[in-house]
Amino acid sequence: MTGIFITFEGGDGVGKTTQMELLKTAIKSADSGREIVVTREPGGTEIGVEIRNLLLHWRGYLAPKAEALLYAADRAHHIETVVRQALARGAVVLQDRYFDSSFAYQGAGRTLGVEEIRGFNLWATGNLFPDFTFLLDMDAETAMQRSAAREGEFDRFHEEKQVFHDRVREEFLALAGAEPERFTVLDASLPAEEIHQQVRERLSHTLPLG
Ligand code: TYD
Repeated sequence: MTGIFITFEGGDGVGKTTQMELLKTAIKSADSGREIVVTREPGGTEIGVEIRNLLLHWRGYLAPKAEALLYAADRAHHIETVVRQALARGAVVLQDRYFDSSFAYQGAGRTLGVEEIRGFNLWATGNLFPDFTFLLDMDAETAMQRSAAREGEFDRFHEEKQVFHDRVREEFLALAGAEPERFTVLDASLPAEEIHQQVRERLSHTLPLG
């Protein structure tokens, strides 16, 4: 049995965690005996937690290229030590963010160029593409309000201006348009249960769900 690699993408505050939880519960209740690994980037490993802390909470200047490479470093370690091993065991991997976030945030948001970011991310991951990517799409302003209400602590990305988050959203949609067989675009303003139904539909031929 080969594993299934499923990623969730979208701007900050669009409800990725809720959707991952709903899907995890549905896989579990199907009782298929499938191992489920829930993980995230950045921060899916012990060293990744350190890198995540730097990336999100460093208060000084961080050169955009250094930022992009730190995300890729976290990713390279995570993919080698967690994700590939889980997939080899036949697990379903549910992952909060992956290289599409770097294409959108660093490539478009920070204007480093999507193709440049793609190059070293494919190298870092050995070209490991997800089987399914669910993009939770929402207008940047609503999403920012939702995540600001949720979190009180300093976060470098919540400090960014609207135009940054608009670029991120546009790039996510462009990525989804370029790879429709991998991506499913979901309207994140719908009730969570409705979004979950669409996730189930997309996976219905691949995964038994309870
Ligand atoms: P996350 O904890 O998923 O944030 P949220 O819960 O707000 O969605 O991700 C942390 C932040 O890191 C988020 O603002 C997006 C950003 N990020 C990048 O800029 N590039 C990347 O490659 C990844 C994985 C995340």
